[in-house]
Amino acid sequence: MNLQKKFEALAQYRFYGIPAENFELSGCEQFMYLLRAGLNPDSRVLDIGCGVLRAGYWLIHFLNPGRYCGIEPHQERLALGMYKILEPEILQCKCPRFDGNANFDTSVFNERFDFFLAYSIWTHAPKKQIQVMLDNFVRDTRPGAAFLLTYQPANWRYPDYQGDSWVGTSHESETAGTIAHSFRWIKEQCRERGLRIRRLPRDRAQGHRWLELRKFP
Ligand SMILES: C[S@@+](CC[C@H](N)C(=O)[O-])C[C@H]1O[C@@H](n2cnc3c(N)ncnc32)[C@H](O)[C@@H]1O
Repeated sequence: MNLQKKFEALAQYRFYGIPAENFELSGCEQFMYLLRAGLNPDSRVLDIGCGVLRAGYWLIHFLNPGRYCGIEPHQERLALGMYKILEPEILQCKCPRFDGNANFDTSVFNERFDFFLAYSIWTHAPKKQIQVMLDNFVRDTRPGAAFLLTYQPANWRYPDYQGDSWVGTSHESETAGTIAHSFRWIKEQCRERGLRIRRLPRDRAQGHRWLELRKFP
């Protein structure tokens, strides 16, 4: 059974935080954004809110053993990814590492990463959590590292979110929702931390808008 069919069957009676439609394409596209940003098999990657390993599946296959790390506080989603989506022999030989902390604490792996990936995370995270991710990106990555993420830009239809809590399903909530952040605010946060920012084209699978933030080499 291919990956798309496998996830559709698993998600038939249960919502795992992402749509079943385009599951395979979306994961593959996330992997391709990282490839275009310079990913190679020896890169060290941190997937923030890795969920059921939609992107992790491809990244774990591609990367050398021990190079993929994922943070996911929703234990059931992570377990589905590890034991139902990923093949057992790949889990065993690629040795991905996972952590369930909900504080975006990227230091738990004791690693300096080349890439952070946050797909469909800033579309749910409040500004204070985004600031934590940015501070941790500066602290726990190597020179020249890239942070690839998707977000919803604020505009007249989507107001700039000023709340303090995660909006959307998670380990603590069953209520769906998304939020927007002003591009100007994000740019300012990057400037304060000495990060370059680049807008990338939308993906095909979900139509998400991408940003690439980069540390100077
Ligand atoms: C919309 S899903 C995206 C999952 C994954 N990035 C993907 O593309 O399939 C958002 C994920 O963030 C997770 N999440 C919620 N709160 C989090 C937190 N505090 N830290 C890390 N991940 C969190 C959710 O459990 C969910 O799996």
